Amino acid sequence: SISERPVDVASAGLHDLVKPDEGAVSRTVFVDEAIYRKELDRVFTKTWLFIGHESQLSEPGDYLTNFMGEDPVIATRGADGVIRVMLNSCAHRGMAVCSTDAGSSKFFRCPYHGWTYSNNGDLIGVPRADTVYHGELDKSRLGLKAVPRVENYKGFIFANWDEDAIPLVDYLGADQLWYLDLAFEAPLGGLEVIGPTMKFRIKANWKLAAENFAGDDYHVLYTHGSAFQIGFLPDYDTLGDYIAHFDHGHGMGDIGKPGRAYQNDVGMAQFLGPEAIEYVNAVHERLKARVSPLQAEMHGLGQGNIFPNLSWIKFGVFHVFGLFQWHPRGPGEIEVWQTALFDRDAPQSVKDVARTQMSQENAAAGIFGQDDGENFEQITESARGVVSQTRDFNYAMGLGHEGEIHEEGYPGHLGPHYSEQNHRNFYRYWLELMTTPGEQK
Ligand code: FES
Repeated sequence: SISERPVDVASAGLHDLVKPDEGAVSRTVFVDEAIYRKELDRVFTKTWLFIGHESQLSEPGDYLTNFMGEDPVIATRGADGVIRVMLNSCAHRGMAVCSTDAGSSKFFRCPYHGWTYSNNGDLIGVPRADTVYHGELDKSRLGLKAVPRVENYKGFIFANWDEDAIPLVDYLGADQLWYLDLAFEAPLGGLEVIGPTMKFRIKANWKLAAENFAGDDYHVLYTHGSAFQIGFLPDYDTLGDYIAHFDHGHGMGDIGKPGRAYQNDVGMAQFLGPEAIEYVNAVHERLKARVSPLQAEMHGLGQGNIFPNLSWIKFGVFHVFGLFQWHPRGPGEIEVWQTALFDRDAPQSVKDVARTQMSQENAAAGIFGQDDGENFEQITESARGVVSQTRDFNYAMGLGHEGEIHEEGYPGHLGPHYSEQNHRNFYRYWLELMTTPGEQK
């Protein structure tokens, strides 16, 4: 049973607070400042974090800005064609050297005192260096700090501060990629980012959003129940059959039995007309040629979370990816970055409906986004209470029944549509990163 015991938070170790195998996680880990600082150090500097899509850096000189945890970074494509990621913070006194979302430039000039960096991070100009620094400034030691590992999987660029990290493809894992490849391989003309990134803040802990996308299909029945009741979407039970989790804390939901997603796509395309139906079938044929017969039969995906803080959602027929980065801003705040990727060669009518649907569903003012944000904020608020903290959050759904679901050929740890096995997997890996063997604090 879930404990209801006074927790001496000050003396409790993380293993006392986070007990995935018992389905219990203390509310403290969602509000405690010291634990948050440790997360930035142990989670966000040791895992592969999403930076951007290759289509955003197609030409030499192209750049974009993003965050790794709370650290601002710039990603650039240099004149040599190499994509680099570096800290967006001047080596002089820390000003951001680039304050725009994206663009193209050969250099970045700091707005404070004018130190200038090439787009590969070298310090190339210091105003009046010969006089004010007496010609003694060693520019070679004062470039922008480079992120040591930058890797790309099918156009999705990730970076890692840990020089010794396992390769990105191993971190994502073959089992998870078996599913994700459906989204990467389906687009007829490849994926491209559409429009600017939408940004908004919610007063919630980042883990609540990440764990939700990692496979909390249960909440959809009630939190988003009204969307189904008014006919905005079909019966939710028909949209997926399973959830699955993978090594390194990753999880996904709304995984359908073979054929289900294709039938759903055809059904939705019928509302749009022959062009959309033709498009769905073209995508299906493309998948048959590029992935295994079973993957092609699966056809589509629901949503998931790539640990730690990159969530994704696919919108039905449209083969678009909605990406959500839950950038932490303290234990009680998230800066949500939402990016849409569409099939470059999708018919315009499909793109238009996809864009509208994305705005209506998961954007800041979307019907799902608002429902979710309200939950995440109120949970975080209640977790601050000292009495509230005596009662752990309950992640016990499906405990003792893991491994009972089998679907021939489906990799990963499959579970029923409604289970908290993926949450437990998320916190198991989180705990592994946050503690070293034998460490209790
Ligand atoms: Fe950048 Fe001074 S802080 S030049």
